[in-house]
Amino acid sequence: MTKLAVIYYSATGHGTAMANRVAAAAEAAGAEVRVRHVAETRDPESFAQNAAWTANYEATKDLPSATGDDIVWADAVIFGSPTRFGSVASQLRSFLDSLGGLWSEGKLSDKVYAGFTSTNTEHGGQETTLLTLYVTLIHFGGIIVPPGYTDAVKFVDGNPYGASLTAGHDNISEFDDATNDALDHLARRVVSVADRLGS
Ligand SMILES: Cc1cc2nc3c(=O)[nH]c(=O)nc-3n(C[C@H](O)[C@H](O)[C@H](O)COP(=O)(O)O)c2cc1C
Repeated sequence: MTKLAVIYYSATGHGTAMANRVAAAAEAAGAEVRVRHVAETRDPESFAQNAAWTANYEATKDLPSATGDDIVWADAVIFGSPTRFGSVASQLRSFLDSLGGLWSEGKLSDKVYAGFTSTNTEHGGQETTLLTLYVTLIHFGGIIVPPGYTDAVKFVDGNPYGASLTAGHDNISEFDDATNDALDHLARRVVSVADRLGS
């Protein structure tokens, strides 16, 4: 059974919902799944005026947060981050930057990796966020498994680099079918490839 870690940072909750969707699809595909959020690094006072950020913080702060051991445990890892100025959020970047010791021991290599992101605006840096994430995964010696156009659903959401959500400026709690299908497909594909590598 493939062990999949879903490791994500989310400020205002879209990434949390995306991570849970990916996890459910991966479990349905037969994987053993760990969902781990990357802990908030900012003082909650600094985003107290943002109701969605505060709500997501309160809902997740007591859940187990990601550690390097979650990657060591996993056969496959799907990372998630909001797009921040076209790149990965600093909170996830800080977590990745904490992994030097495991990297030097070769414990991050030979795993299947992929990613998801969300933006306010259409496109909005989704592809560059995933590419900058994948640069780090290349340094891990990871096996990056992008969705490409390997299923009809990818011609609907149109992002071959990973799964992505255009959230808009209102915080949304339910995703459109194209986003859900892309998240499900990403999970199934990562599990399928990891299953085959493990056999
Ligand atoms: C500092 C900062 C930079 C951002 N940069 C972008 C951006 O480059 N493009 C974009 O469309 N949205 C950008 N956004 C919006 C977030 O990507 C968007 O709200 C995302 O859905 C948040 O995900 P979350 O709810 O999981 O935190 C930015 C938000 C912040 C706070």
